[in-house]
Parts: sequence; C-alpha cells; structure tokens
Amino acid sequence: MVHRLITSCCTRVLSSQTRVLCSRSFSSPLYPLQPKHVDPNHDALYEESLNNPERFWGDLAKHRLRWSKEFDTVMDCDMHKGKISWFLGGKLNVSDNCIDRHVEVTPDRTALIWEKDEPNQHQRVSYRELKEMTCQIANTFKQYGIVKGDRVAVYMPVSPLLVATMLACARIGAVHSVVFAGFSAEALKSRILDASCKVVVTADQGVRGGKVIELKRTVDTAVVDCDCVENVFVMSRTGASVPWKDGRDVKLEEAMEQQSTECPAEVLDSEDPLFMLYTSGSTGKPKGLLHTQAGYILYAGLTHQLVFDYHHGDVFACVSDIGWINGHSSVVYGPLSNGATTTLFESVPTYPDPGRYWEMVERLKIKQFYTAPTAIRLLLKCGDHYVHKYNRDTLTTLGCVGEPLNTGAWEWYHNVVGGGRCTVVDTWWQTETGGIMITPRPSSGHTRSKPGFPMTPFLGVEPVLYNDQNELLEGNNVSGRLCIKKPTPGMARTIYGDHERFLDTYYRPYPGVYFTGDGALRDKDGHYKITGRVDDVINTKGHRLGTAELESVMDEDPRVAEAAVVGYGHEDYGEAIYAYVILKDEVRDNEELIIKDLKAAITKHIGSFAVPHCFMITPGLPKTRSGKIMRRILRKVAENKPEELGDVSTLADPPIVSTIVEKHQQKYGTK
Ligand code: WTA
Repeated sequence: MVHRLITSCCTRVLSSQTRVLCSRSFSSPLYPLQPKHVDPNHDALYEESLNNPERFWGDLAKHRLRWSKEFDTVMDCDMHKGKISWFLGGKLNVSDNCIDRHVEVTPDRTALIWEKDEPNQHQRVSYRELKEMTCQIANTFKQYGIVKGDRVAVYMPVSPLLVATMLACARIGAVHSVVFAGFSAEALKSRILDASCKVVVTADQGVRGGKVIELKRTVDTAVVDCDCVENVFVMSRTGASVPWKDGRDVKLEEAMEQQSTECPAEVLDSEDPLFMLYTSGSTGKPKGLLHTQAGYILYAGLTHQLVFDYHHGDVFACVSDIGWINGHSSVVYGPLSNGATTTLFESVPTYPDPGRYWEMVERLKIKQFYTAPTAIRLLLKCGDHYVHKYNRDTLTTLGCVGEPLNTGAWEWYHNVVGGGRCTVVDTWWQTETGGIMITPRPSSGHTRSKPGFPMTPFLGVEPVLYNDQNELLEGNNVSGRLCIKKPTPGMARTIYGDHERFLDTYYRPYPGVYFTGDGALRDKDGHYKITGRVDDVINTKGHRLGTAELESVMDEDPRVAEAAVVGYGHEDYGEAIYAYVILKDEVRDNEELIIKDLKAAITKHIGSFAVPHCFMITPGLPKTRSGKIMRRILRKVAENKPEELGDVSTLADPPIVSTIVEKHQQKYGTK
C-alpha cells in the first residue's frame, strides 16, 4: 500500500543524466544487490523529489501520516536563513502515529523484542501492550505536573520502558532529551541544566556485557545542583536497592500501576518540538539538536522502509543504543511509525562471546540487521566460526552507519555474515539530518553497490561539494566538503537555546546550503564516498566527540598549560584519539601520574568511552605564526607517517616537529 503511494506521486520519467567529466577513477569492485521488492521508477521518483518537492513530500505526508487536521502549507524553508519548516497548519501526534493507528488494526502484532543483556533472553511487547505502557507513563507524567513543552531527561537502559517513556513524552507534547547511559554524572548534569529538564527518568542500575552500571547513583550525583529537577522516576532493572530521596524519587512501575491505560494523545502542531538530542561539535559545549513532529516522523519512517526494504512481518534489528540518533530514528521512531517489529538490543557484540549478534539473528529470525563499522571490524577479527555457527538464512539486508566502512570490513559483512546473498547498505547521515541521507536503496532497483560507498542520495536529497575556496564542484570525479542543497523534512530545526550557533555551524559556512562537517568524494559514476570529518569532530568506536570537549577537560587541570586532541585513522576504531599535552613550566610531577589523572578527569566529565588512546606530554605544539595549532601535523605524527608531514619550515617553531616525532616513536614505536 505504502509502496504504491510512493510510486503514485511520480508522474513523469526523466532520463538520468550521468556526466563523466574527469579521467581519474576511484575504482572499486561492484557487487550485486539482491532486492526483493523492486521499485522500477526510482530515477524518475528521485528527479520528481528534487524538481517538485512540495508535491512529492506533500503527497507522502498526506498518505503516510495520520493527521488530526491536515496541513495547509507543505514547506516554508529558506536555506539562506537556515529556516526549515514543514507541513504548517497541520496537527497530529507522533505517539498516535507510532502506536494507536497500528493497535486499531493489529493490536497483537509484536512492536518490540527486548534482547536483554543476559544471553538467550528476550521479551516481546505487542503494540497493544506498548500503548498501555505509554499511556500509563503519560498519565504518571501528567500527575506530576509535566505539561506540553516541558523537557524530560531520560537516562535509561535500552528497554521497552525507555521506548514507552519517549512515546509518553510525545503523547503529551513534552520534549525528551535522551542521554546515553554511558555518559558521566557531569556530562548528564550539563545536559539537564542546558535544557532545564523538569524531571529525569532512570533505572536503579543498568547491565551491559554482564557488568552493572550504577544509573541511579549517577543521576543522584548529577542532579545535586540542578534546581530545575523536581522528580526522578526510577525503573527497576536489576531490583538492587539504591539510595532514595523521599519526595523527589518515584518508583516508575509503581506509579504506572495506579494509572489508566488510556491517555488521549495531545493534538500538536507539525512544528512543535518532539525531542532534543545532544551531540558534539567543534566547541567544548555539546549542542542539543532539536527535532520537530511531522517532518521528522515522516522522514524516519520513509527511510526505514525503503532503505531496509522493510515489509510487515519482518523482524528488524538496529543494535545501536537508543541514546544516539540512530537509536531514535532506526530503533524507535522509524520502525514504529511503519508498524514494524523492532529489536531493542541491550547488550554488547562480544557478550557472552563474539557470536552474540548471529545467535540472536537465528533465534529472533532477523531480516534486516543494522550496526556500526567498529562492531564489524571487531567481530571480523574474532574469526568466521562465530558467524558460521548460526543460521542466518533469514537475513536480507545488512546495514551500517557511523563511520566509513573500509573495503575489508564491507567484504566480510557481505561475504561472511551475509553469505554473499544480502544487500549491504552503508548509510550516511547525522544527528542533524534526522534520517538516512546517502545510501544504496535495495527497493530502488539499483543493483550495484561499491564497498565503502554510501552511493546515492535518498529521495529529496541533493548533495553538493565545495572546495577549500568555497567554490561549488560540478561534475564527477571530485572531492570536497559535503553540503546538502535542498531542505528535507527530517532535518533539525535549531540548537536548543542557541539558534545563532545553529546558523554559524550549519548555514553560514556555505550560504544557501546545509554544511555537514564531512568531506566526501563523488566518483566517476557519480557515487558518493565519505572521507571523514573536516571539522574538529572525531568519530571513535561509533561515538561522536568534539576535540574541544576533551581539550577543555584537560585544560582544567592546574598543571596543564595547553592540550591538543586529534583523531587519527585506526584499524579497529575507525578513528582513535591522541592527546598532546603541554605542562606548565614549574610542574615536576611524574608524567605517568599526570596522564592517569587526565584519564580520570575525562571519565568524570564525559565518560570512560571518551578517554584518548594515546597521550604525549610535549614541550610544545606545532603552530602557525598566528598561533593556530597545526592539527594536520599532529595527526600525521599519530599515524606514524612523518614522511607525510610536508613543509614545516613556516611554523613558529619548526624543530618542535622532530621533537614530537621522536617522542612518539620512543613511546609507541614506529608502527
Ligand atoms: C559519520 C550517526 C562515513 C559522519 C547517524 C557524520 C559516516 C557523523 C557514515 C554523524 C557513513 C555517519 N560513512 N561516515 N556511512 N555515517 N558517518 O551524528 O562523519 O552520531 O557526520 O550520526 O558520523 O554522527 P552522528
């Protein structure tokens, strides 16, 4: 039905024009995709989506979403001003779209499969049960005075109650801010304060890979100085007894039991806020990207359905944590808006052993599986027998996101995990874009995919590349900074509380387009490959971190004069983190002790996942004469490529380069 609606809005078939302008080729072997449900009009549809976005998106929004009142205006966007608004005048509720309309037709269909950390244990939650849980939480929130527009911080384990908490916020128009449960108390506190959250929802403890995580205790520390927080709701995950503050703390399940399983869904405007999600940028302060209702849910649902070729009855598994955008769009909102069965993966890929994913695929009969390159690289090192041990015949689509997927990992995923018969979709997108933007599309009939290439823009997406001189790069066989020319409905609308920063970061660098912060190349066939961040952001082990965030933590140590952090290519992690630290002249402390303290400070302020892999205490840093740190040089040193340092003679202090090269080699060798 939806499939028909997609194609019905395409009215004319346009011939695709491929211009091959340059001779340099980025050669890669081509692998066949094996789509089950082919949409033959993809090219025409893509053209239509760019040429006539109002009709294209308007038709989709009308037919795919349930409206209380249909919108009057499809879009009101001005990329020059960073203004993005969709479906104005429309009224709807996202939780109604994700639950109620499915409950009315198929109440007993499984909405969630909770793959608990404990091996071999899963629980199913039907759409009816999900609705009941959601309504009970929504009613609990109302009882505690949470109203439309209030911010709710969520610091919970991946679980059905986490999903129901998000949907309960959506139901009453509160704005959730999910914080990954690996962040420290300090990081949680700064996010709670930035958004002035009225309540925090957490659990007694979390468990990951068999290890206990003290969630409630962390929240207790975080909220000590948060006057805005009135209540802390605590879900029971392990049942452990945890410190309790009467009057403030509320047992979530007990409160829910008192409540009705019905709660009317608030009628909201298309552009009312749905959630905010913090992500790292190039300054020390994380930014709360704000997403709104109709455009976001439309885009999350459409991309989930088409990129993964999802059909009713399929079991979909995105193993990301819900604390990241991938968890929001690909675990929760995209699948649920499509009435899908979605898996909530609470564990880690190597627990109890590196066969965990594939054992789960066999047991739950998973069809579409979505993970991060770092997990694929980790598992391929553990040996193929962990994969072969389990039956993976149900798999049809294998996705990945978060960093470039190198050819070796792509081939292993395709040949070993997929047995050479599944479609691999390397998807490129960001917290800011809300949904997948560049990706192979199995349902499009495009039958070829290149390892390491996200390939082609999704419907409505027009990528453009700029060179360092801010000139638009036309034609193929070019590489530059990746920008997006046309607004899409799922894009973030602002940074919570700092619209100027939003404009400065995304819309002012290249006027008239959205700047992604990534570099990309467009090969001779017009296919895209992402080359990595061009700003001071590091993608490490599937986490996104700003170098400035780490530097400001280290700068706070009274012994540190200056710190510079860079990401460098790493076989397993995609990028690893290298910290260069200059101490104040008078400091005589042992270097190892200082490094130990810096590691502890980063764990305290951000989380242990952010601790750099290498540290160097150095007498100086390579800087230009105007005082700018030459991070390119620091990266080459970290990668052990002194031969690629280039001309360093124009630096303020050229000999410092050989000093840091020697220090690096003494400490970490030449490999
Ligand atoms: C990177 C994750 C290469 C990129 C959904 C982007 C990728 C950042 C890919 C966003 C890919 C994401 N190939 N790099 N397929 N997908 N990235 O906000 O640098 O956590 O800007 O969103 O991850 O990370 P975020």
